[in-house]
Amino acid sequence: QELQLNLEQIEKNNFDHFMLKEIYEQPSAITDTYRGRLQVDAGLIRMAGVDDNLERFLNAKRIVIVACGTSWHAGLVAEYIFEDLARIPVEVEYASEFRYRNPIINSDDVVIAISQSGETADTMAAIKLAKEKGAFVFGVCNVVGSSISRETHAGAYTHAGPEIGVASTKAFTTQITVLTLIALKLAKAKGTISNSDFHMHLRELETIPGKVELALESNDHIKKVADKYKDARNCLYLGRGFNFPVALEGALKLKEISYIHAEGYPAAEMKHGPIALIDEEMPVVVIATRKGHYEKVVSNIQEIKSRQGKIIGIVTEGDTSVRDLADYVIEVPDTIEALTPLLTTIPLQLLSYHIAVMLGKNVDQPRNLAKSVTVE
Ligand code: AGP
Repeated sequence: QELQLNLEQIEKNNFDHFMLKEIYEQPSAITDTYRGRLQVDAGLIRMAGVDDNLERFLNAKRIVIVACGTSWHAGLVAEYIFEDLARIPVEVEYASEFRYRNPIINSDDVVIAISQSGETADTMAAIKLAKEKGAFVFGVCNVVGSSISRETHAGAYTHAGPEIGVASTKAFTTQITVLTLIALKLAKAKGTISNSDFHMHLRELETIPGKVELALESNDHIKKVADKYKDARNCLYLGRGFNFPVALEGALKLKEISYIHAEGYPAAEMKHGPIALIDEEMPVVVIATRKGHYEKVVSNIQEIKSRQGKIIGIVTEGDTSVRDLADYVIEVPDTIEALTPLLTTIPLQLLSYHIAVMLGKNVDQPRNLAKSVTVE
């Protein structure tokens, strides 16, 4: 028994929980993900799975992404990145819906299946269906040799290392990293990005692990924010553009480990319904980085404030406008808009972690949930 406990402590590397360890591993996990692939000096991205099938990708009329849960959120971020950089139409599907609804799939479609475990039953079934219809299926998995990595035609591993906590953290940011590399590679090959812009993206991507380190330095401050809102019954998460999926992911993290009801919304959708929920009891986490619809998000924040909602702003360092309006702000370093999800996700992971710990919940193994969902 004692030996078992000591072993677990060693595995956790002296962190209290696997989830916290995995949150802190993100700088190195992201580096491991792009190591050998991102070659800044040579100005290229090497990914064998994409290089060997470049024509399939370049001739694709559209990309269909299938996934579940957090991996589906990474797919939504990828939709923004692929469409913005590579100008390829993207559809993002819940694997569980896609497989049961007689979807239209053509042989010139590229299907990207995203799965940390590589064992999710619904994602696996969606892959089989897409293959039957003649599509080329590309896997983005973390677990080497997993069922999905074997079932797909080609793929790219995320190299995040083992993720033990049921709440997915480093899998999410490394999935976004791999998908960004693919989008940039295709954008370059298709000529939808200028050389200088391409190089700027490569250089910026290389700075992300250091910026994640800086975002992690807000941990003590985030703990204080967690203490303030841990007794909330509900919580809203809002974001726009690239950060709309991050809002969904922040809400999923909170509900999954703290059992607090949380909803993520595109900030502009608030006025079509959710605004009715806002009163002085409602914490609203708003992702309001300086890049991307900033003024519009600030006006969303004003709408929340005028209804006495409690505002937690995730802002770019040095921000003053949101600070003036919000109850709390949490800063992240500046980066280009497409890469902001890799930074804005960090405080949301820490916020849900601390709230769940303060509420005495089983952070690494929340009730009713399994790490990989192998049932339908
Ligand atoms: C995330 O925190 C969840 N535990 C869950 O949504 C997960 O992302 C989903 O079950 C998909 O798993 P996969 O990536 O292993 O396919």
